[in-house]
Amino acid sequence: MATARDNERLAINGGPKAFPAMHGRKKPKIGVEEFLSIAERFGFSAEALERIRSVIGDEDLGAGPTLSRFLTARPQATKGEAFEKLARETFGTKYALACNSGTGALHASFVAAGVGPGTEVIVPAVGFFATATAVVMSKGVPVFCDVDESLAMDPGKIEALITPRTVAVAPTCVMGTVPDMDPILAVARKHRLAVIEDCAQSPGAKYRGRYVGTLGDLGCFSISGYKIVGGGEGGLLLTDAERLFERARQLAECGGLTRPDRFAPPRYEGELFCGTNYRMSELEAAVDVVQLRKMPALVRQYNTIKRTILGQLRTYRQVVPQKLNDAEGEAGYMIRFFPESVELGRKIAAALNAEGIGVGDFIWPSECSIRGPQAPPDWHVYRWMFPVLLKTDPAGSNCPFDCPIYRQRGGRIEYRRGDCPRAEDLFDRNVMIWLDPCYSPEDCRQIAGGINKVLSAYCTEDPAATRWL
Ligand SMILES: Cc1ncc(COP(=O)(O)O)c(C=O)c1O
Repeated sequence: MATARDNERLAINGGPKAFPAMHGRKKPKIGVEEFLSIAERFGFSAEALERIRSVIGDEDLGAGPTLSRFLTARPQATKGEAFEKLARETFGTKYALACNSGTGALHASFVAAGVGPGTEVIVPAVGFFATATAVVMSKGVPVFCDVDESLAMDPGKIEALITPRTVAVAPTCVMGTVPDMDPILAVARKHRLAVIEDCAQSPGAKYRGRYVGTLGDLGCFSISGYKIVGGGEGGLLLTDAERLFERARQLAECGGLTRPDRFAPPRYEGELFCGTNYRMSELEAAVDVVQLRKMPALVRQYNTIKRTILGQLRTYRQVVPQKLNDAEGEAGYMIRFFPESVELGRKIAAALNAEGIGVGDFIWPSECSIRGPQAPPDWHVYRWMFPVLLKTDPAGSNCPFDCPIYRQRGGRIEYRRGDCPRAEDLFDRNVMIWLDPCYSPEDCRQIAGGINKVLSAYCTEDPAATRWL
């Protein structure tokens, strides 16, 4: 029998433990309420939620799970790691970095590629504001490049924009389509510029057999809810280059949390610098693993549907279809064309809507539309990207536009409406028909018939006019 004296003996010296086990009933940090809160988002009925509650409540989850990427119990891979592994396998790149947004992936890429004070990056005049924003966040100056009839950066316009300050070019995939990458890569290689692909709007699309995002030095994707591979808010960065990956991760992981030895001096110049946190959350990664698995089949469906419809369209004198740089590879969730005037486009769009064509809700609720010059501001064309055009910054110093380093290197930039006339004209005039990945062959036949019906009513059929495919 243990004496009082024995009880006083320190546990470290063989005595009994003062607190051998907890008496309170443990509750996991992430438990029933959290699961139910997610289930609520799916619109389950109250009865279904109750059933889910009782199932989850029965399970002993111990203390876990935690949703931290770095604390999750090993050897099980975190969802973030699983997502990155799947991304490497899917796209065939050596490195993949899961981020919490496409903008974060772009920022990390630009910084990795050496964009900083005194540098310029050529970005397209049509795409999304985030590309130019990420350049400014990296302290570089975006230079807008006009587009061609694919609505992507016109490869023939790049060279004239290159200066001694240019370090990168950032072609953007527009709404499922792909830029003409071969000539873009050729100019970039000739001038030793990094190529950062912004593929936020076309994940899974291919150019000449290769996934977009793997053609340049770095590829960036958004996985926001508005995208083909849509989760909640997420992003992905791909590269084959170890240094670029390390530097991107440095920016995205708080300035070095994931270096082999966090506190070691830099192993090479440019390895160590302050970063921020663009880490993808485990919840997002859990969804994105499944979404990414579905991507190839989904993109194939879209592509087949679009080509099936385009293959049945007749050609018209007053209508120029969007140029497709790779009709077989693109993700194709939209048919676009340019009527000769905005008025004609308005009539066509209204008539298509009346036929029930172009109405989609897979990516977001939308109808067949044309913008026109009077349309409200839109961040997909450069003329509305005010924080860039006005060259503002939060501290009032006009950095990086009036940065002394930029000035010393001869840099001076003015943004004016009309700098990229093609972009403005085509953006205003393009008619957009949204497609649904679940259309059947019969749906495609009816939609093609409806487009032919409307175009025949307003335009002149002409076998010599520009073809759709
Ligand atoms: C072309 C393009 N780049 C970047 C982004 C930014 O992605 P995120 O919203 O995930 O930051 C978007 C999002 O709409 C986009 O369309």
